[in-house]
Amino acid sequence: MAPCIVSCVVLMLLCCMRLSAAAVYNVGSFGARPDGRTDASEALAAAWSVACRSTEPATVLVPNGQFLVSHAAFAGPCSGRMTVQIDGTLVAPSGYTGGGSSGGEGEWIVFDHVDGLTVSGGTLDGSGESLWACKAAGHDGCPDGATSMKVLNSRDVMISGVKSVNSELYHVVIDGCEGVTVQDSRIVAPESSPNTDGIHVQSSSAVTITGASIQTGDDCISVGPGTSNLRVEHVSCGPGHGISIGSLGKESEERGVENVTVSGATFVGTENGLRIKTWGRAARSSAYVRGVVFEHALMRDVSNPIIIDQNYCPNDGGHGCPHQSSDVQISGVTYTDIQGSSASQVAVKFDCSASKPCSGLGLQDIKLTFDGGKPTEATCQHADGTASGVLVPPSCL
Ligand SMILES: *[C@@H]1O[C@H](CO)[C@@H](O)[C@H](O)[C@H]1NC(C)=O
Repeated sequence: MAPCIVSCVVLMLLCCMRLSAAAVYNVGSFGARPDGRTDASEALAAAWSVACRSTEPATVLVPNGQFLVSHAAFAGPCSGRMTVQIDGTLVAPSGYTGGGSSGGEGEWIVFDHVDGLTVSGGTLDGSGESLWACKAAGHDGCPDGATSMKVLNSRDVMISGVKSVNSELYHVVIDGCEGVTVQDSRIVAPESSPNTDGIHVQSSSAVTITGASIQTGDDCISVGPGTSNLRVEHVSCGPGHGISIGSLGKESEERGVENVTVSGATFVGTENGLRIKTWGRAARSSAYVRGVVFEHALMRDVSNPIIIDQNYCPNDGGHGCPHQSSDVQISGVTYTDIQGSSASQVAVKFDCSASKPCSGLGLQDIKLTFDGGKPTEATCQHADGTASGVLVPPSCL
């Protein structure tokens, strides 16, 4: 009697252990070596492919150590919910030029068509230094570079505790997705690194970015066409170019941006704080920006704390601007409880389009001071709206 019970229990335990173990696919078992030199791309692809076919929730585990990865494409659809748990570091090869695409912008780690995805932990090192050096030296032949992590055409995605350093281009891009949460991420690249945006969102809805610390050479968070219902909360930016909606209105067939809330952001030493930017060109665009709430932001030494720039026209003239006015309609944008210091005298700048003036702007409880011994100013061009509460600088609306 007793021996039977014991063996039954042992069998059951073994059974359970096998069941739970079966759902974790350690890339080490697929040949990945944590030596920072051996390309683990094939091992990652093999582990993903088996895990993706698993009917129960499956985890691809990258254990501790440095794994060289030249390219990783994690494609769905998969049979069950997928988790990629990264305990170690994925390192891109130095001098990397993109994900095998011929010319244009490349991508390093890509998730495409994966509904029900968690990416947790780990460090992604884009090894961007040699590409930045090429761009800084002004060489013509420099490649555009690669985005470190792209999440494309996916629903129900959680990206948690991921650290991304030194990308060649954007650190994280979310495009064509619905229902994405990015939480507790750290993004680090030098202030001088070109085009190393932190997190870029476009053509996506219901995205939440919460609790991020982002130091880069370009935008902290950038919001592209076709974004709706985006929440950004408790993000700290700097150095870098701040949080930006746009650039929009470069192309004619372009979708708008609707319902963006940025709450509790801090900016230290950034070029901009809260920015909306459209090309100063008559692109016959039907794009718009509407329903934007900027609230509870803290600024320190920010050159343009609050700015709407509808006359964006880099390399004057090259793109059918300047001396044109933007087609992008900006409406319903409120700024509430924005405090701190401006590094320039103009702390609030609404430079809107002559042909599509901004409407429904709102300023409430703004306290932005300038250390240069002069009071801050607000300037308005083609801007309409209301102001209330404490207003430093005085409102121009
Ligand atoms: C934007 O928010 C409003 C108000 O909550 C809502 O009615 C509208 O459907 C939202 N837009 C989109 C594209 O979800």
